[in-house]
Amino acid sequence: MEQLLQQIEQYKKEIASIVPDGADALEAYRIRFLGTKGIVKGLFGEMKSVPGDQKKEFGQILNEFKQLAEARYEDWKNSLGTGASGNAASIDLSLPADTLPLGTHHPITLVRDQIVRIFGRLGFSVAEGPEIEDDWHNFTALNLPENHPARDMQDTFYINQNPDWLLRTHTSSVQARTMESQKPPIRIICPGRVYRNETISARAHCFFHQTEGLYIDENVSFADLKQTLYFFVQQMFGKDVKVRFRPSYFPFTEPSAEMDISCLICGGSGCSVCKHTGWVEILGSGMVHPKLLENFGIDPNKYTGFAFGMGVERICQLKYRVNDLRLYSQNDVRFLRQFTGAV
Ligand code: PHE
Repeated sequence: MEQLLQQIEQYKKEIASIVPDGADALEAYRIRFLGTKGIVKGLFGEMKSVPGDQKKEFGQILNEFKQLAEARYEDWKNSLGTGASGNAASIDLSLPADTLPLGTHHPITLVRDQIVRIFGRLGFSVAEGPEIEDDWHNFTALNLPENHPARDMQDTFYINQNPDWLLRTHTSSVQARTMESQKPPIRIICPGRVYRNETISARAHCFFHQTEGLYIDENVSFADLKQTLYFFVQQMFGKDVKVRFRPSYFPFTEPSAEMDISCLICGGSGCSVCKHTGWVEILGSGMVHPKLLENFGIDPNKYTGFAFGMGVERICQLKYRVNDLRLYSQNDVRFLRQFTGAV
């Protein structure tokens, strides 16, 4: 028995001197001390060789030793973070944190923001309105009464619940709301999503984004319209780009014009993007129709104004040379990651 007690003392010292290491060392410890053929089991096996009157004392010492070996095992295990009772000790606070993948701005957002910034420098502020509109703000107030043929140009989604409601087909509705609630001078830019009932293809979608603008004050002329839009185009596409205005028709402006810019893809010599004309249409514009001013209680003899509207996707297509419209709404991150905030 004396010998056994000495051995136990030895093992205790060994256990006390252990410097806890990784999971492998812990497992080796478990097998050595607590395994089925381990030291603790072996010592219990020695019980039979202990004289009867010493069995009780030896049993006590052995039990204490077993508890010590087990406690050491538990402490060690917890320090590795594998125990059930928490793993605080295993967190290395000095490690660098996991990096979070940073998103990028959507190309439509980048271009829209740039449009807003350019007009912002000319004193235009942003106005917003609802995407579910009523007939008055989207059409009638803008000189597009019911049965007006120009309504056909904007295939409209109506809302079953109420025939007077629709998804706005342009952000001119925001201009209507602004004229309704503000007095001139008005100088606003209206970015936003609009909806038209078109079959989805590379060239059309059932929704797209617009930025429209409105400027009403005394003595606003067509020359102001031209110069403002010319400034915009130069800021957006560079000094070399040329513009031309073509007479057009919109019920809410008179006179009206569409503006083309020289094709950025071929430089004007003709390609498939400009359909070999050298020019690409980018927006509609015109002098605000006096009828509209009257509709909103603005005196057309005192005030004049101009308005314009452009598709953000169109500007985006020219800027980034990505023609397939579907890509802008498919949310494929491989596409979206290619654009940075550098515009
Ligand atoms: N609202 C027109 C459209 O969506 C664009 C436009 C706005 C034209 C203002 C002229 C003046 O097509």
